[in-house]
Amino acid sequence: TQEPLILGIETSCDETGVGIVRGQTLLADAVASSVEEHARFGGVVPEVASRAHLEAMVPTIRRACETAGVKPSDLDAIAVTSGPGLAGALLVGVAAAKGLALSLDKPLYGVNHLAAHVAVDTLEHGDIPKGCVAMLVSGGHSSLLAVEDITVGVEPMGATIDDAAGEAFDKVARVLGLPFPGGPYVDKAAKEGDRLYVRFPRGLTSTKDLERHRFDFSFSGLKTSVARWVEARRRDGEDVPVHHVAAAFQEAVCDVLTRKAIDACKDRGYEHLLIGGGVAANSRLRAMAVERCTEAGIAVRVPRPGLCTDNGAMVAALGSELVRAGVAPSPLGLPADSSMPI
Ligand code: KG4
Ligand code: ZN
Repeated sequence: TQEPLILGIETSCDETGVGIVRGQTLLADAVASSVEEHARFGGVVPEVASRAHLEAMVPTIRRACETAGVKPSDLDAIAVTSGPGLAGALLVGVAAAKGLALSLDKPLYGVNHLAAHVAVDTLEHGDIPKGCVAMLVSGGHSSLLAVEDITVGVEPMGATIDDAAGEAFDKVARVLGLPFPGGPYVDKAAKEGDRLYVRFPRGLTSTKDLERHRFDFSFSGLKTSVARWVEARRRDGEDVPVHHVAAAFQEAVCDVLTRKAIDACKDRGYEHLLIGGGVAANSRLRAMAVERCTEAGIAVRVPRPGLCTDNGAMVAALGSELVRAGVAPSPLGLPADSSMPI
């Protein structure tokens, strides 16, 4: 029998994403971003994001269908991110998905955005192992999740208590005079820097902090520490060694992320670590994760960068896993839940 053909809609933040998959094969991944409309405000404005989703939705659905070479009537189910995310932004995607499901008389699947970040890896590496830890690191989230079975859900183990990892990269980039979004620029600059030039603090790693926050992250102290260090240099009229600071900062972030991720795997007895989110593109994080996980007997999976960022393909990928597992669809009264646990 033919694998199910699933369309997925993602509108939890500023990307309008529509993806189409057949089984675990990606057929189309159309994304329209309103990031430029937000740039002049210096952050995502929820009202602006909602309006942009409304305008981009139908053209993006059309584009995805054209790329995949399918008609809406060919679809077997519609999946949509129902949370967590910006309430008004989610509502646009959920309403669009309901309209499609109703008019096509096809089942609707409301999915968790974080679980979708995990499921997207099926498109690159096949089935998600039964029993893995997922570390999601982006501009919006930094979470450790336990995944027994992706079609059942994900269980939050820990998350950032202040800034997200990507946010820390972006803020430090600004301190160093690098462009926005800063992550890729810090990554590039760090390649020519000395990782041991300064030792910046590793948040929530002291014995006392580990008691309460074993699997949580904190990056705001690190960011402040880098800013202070740079300011002191400037005050003294000295040049700021951007490459070295970038490398030392990146080292601190990657050290904490990989340490806690491996500890989470050990805690659960899982032998697989999956890394997703925009920061998963970081070259040092990938290298360090592979090195340390190999030592610990843990296999690492990282989807390609294009699949790590917010998109519709990840939603379609999770929808497809649900359909394949025979999970019951959502009611057409499906609400958007902006505060689902992250
Ligand atoms: O997943 P994403 O595209 O969007 C959301 O935040 O939802 O993640 C974007 C974040 C930004 O903070 C960006 O600076 C960071 O991912 N990022 C990186 C790298 N590429 C993107 N951070 C570190 N190293 C990179 N190579
Ligand atoms: Zn995301």
